[in-house]
Amino acid sequence: MNCVIFGAPGSGKGTQAAALCEAFQMVHVSTGDMLREAVRNGTELGKKAQALMADGKLVPDELVGGIVREKILNLVGQGKGILFDGYPRNLDQAKFLDACLTEAGSQIDAVAVLDLDPAVLVKRICGRRLCTKPGCTGAFNIHFMPSKQEGVCDLCGSPLQQRKDDNEETLKERLAVYNSQSLPSLEYYDQKDLLIRVNADDKVESVRAALLGGIRAKCGCNKGCCA
Ligand code: AP5
Ligand code: MG
Repeated sequence: MNCVIFGAPGSGKGTQAAALCEAFQMVHVSTGDMLREAVRNGTELGKKAQALMADGKLVPDELVGGIVREKILNLVGQGKGILFDGYPRNLDQAKFLDACLTEAGSQIDAVAVLDLDPAVLVKRICGRRLCTKPGCTGAFNIHFMPSKQEGVCDLCGSPLQQRKDDNEETLKERLAVYNSQSLPSLEYYDQKDLLIRVNADDKVESVRAALLGGIRAKCGCNKGCCA
C-alpha cells in the first residue's frame, strides 16, 4: 500500500509516520528529510535547496521530483509500500507522483489529511527540538514532548537543535505556501475518492488511532496490506 500524509507545517506528519509505516509495512519517504540531508552533505541539490528552505519556499518541482522518482522506482521495485510525507505539495507534483507510481506498476491508495487550526502551529513549530546525530530519530517539543534533560536527546544523549525554518516569521511563509499551493491539490485526490480527513488538534495517540482507522477503512482491507 502507498499513502500520502498531508498537512500544514507542524500538523504532525513526521510524528505519525513511524506508527503508520509499522502498521501498514510502508517505508517513510519525507522530501523535507531528504532535502535537509542534501543540505547537510553539501550536495548540488542541497546547495540549490538551502536558501529556499530557510525562507519557507518550495524547492523547484524538477529538483524534488528527481529524488522522489528514484526512491519510488527503487522501493516499489523491491515490493515495498511507501508513506509519502511532504510530497506532493502542489498539483503538478501530485500528477508527477501518479506518473512515477504508474511507471513502477503501483498507485496511491489513500491520502490522509491532518486538519487543525493554524493558531496551534506556532508552539508546535517553535517548540520542536531535533537530535543532531545523523540517523537518530529523536524528536521532542519543549511544550508538548520535552526531553528528560533540556537540550539532550533521550535516545542517544546527543545535543538537540532547532530546524532553521522553525521560527515564527518563516512559519508565516510556509503556511502561506501551504494555503496557496498545497491545499488546492487536494481537489485532485478528492475527485479520486482517496481523501481521509483527521482532526490533528488532539493527543498524538488519538490522532494516530484516527489515522489507522481511516486508512484501514479506505483501503478496505482487501489487499492483504492492512489486516
Ligand atoms: P518538511 O520537512 O516537509 O516540513 P513541513 O511540511 O513544514 O512540515 P514539518 O516537518 O515542519 O511538520 P510535521 O507535519 O512533520 O510536524 P511534526 O510531526 O514534526 O519541508 C520543509 C521544507 O522543505 C519546505 O518548506 C520546502 O522548502 C522543502 N520541501 C519539502 N518537500 C518539498 C516538496 N515536495 N516540494 C518542494 N519543496 C519541498 O510535529 C511538529 C511538532 O509538533 C513536533 O515538535 C511534535 O512533537 C509536535 N506535535 C506533533 N503532533 C502533536 C500533537 N498531536 N500534539 C502536540 N504536539 C504535537
Ligand atoms: Mg515533518
